[in-house]
Amino acid sequence: MSEVSVGLLADLPVDTGRRVVVGETAIAVFRVGDEVHAIADLCSHAEASLAEGELFDDEVECPRHGAVFDVATGKPLTLPATKPVAVYAVDVRNGEVFVDAPDEAQVQEDQADE
Ligand code: FES
Repeated sequence: MSEVSVGLLADLPVDTGRRVVVGETAIAVFRVGDEVHAIADLCSHAEASLAEGELFDDEVECPRHGAVFDVATGKPLTLPATKPVAVYAVDVRNGEVFVDAPDEAQVQEDQADE
């Protein structure tokens, strides 16, 4: 695991996620107030992007079939998803968001909110 910057807290959307790709891993980053959570950007049901889902407080709704996930724990709260998604540690320092990503590659992509 290695820490990578995924941008500024102020630039994160509040009603959806931001997709970042670190090496081979897509990560969905969510702002909940002044906290930030990061989970795998791959729904455990049928591989949709959770970063593209709508965020309600600390819950995101998968845009494909509507399963709801807790963005802090990665656990599914509703069907049809039944398996959790990976959770990545996040640290916010001086307004910049760092995710503890699974490898040392650089952020390659940042497109969910564009
Ligand atoms: S792909 Fe997410 S609920 Fe089906």
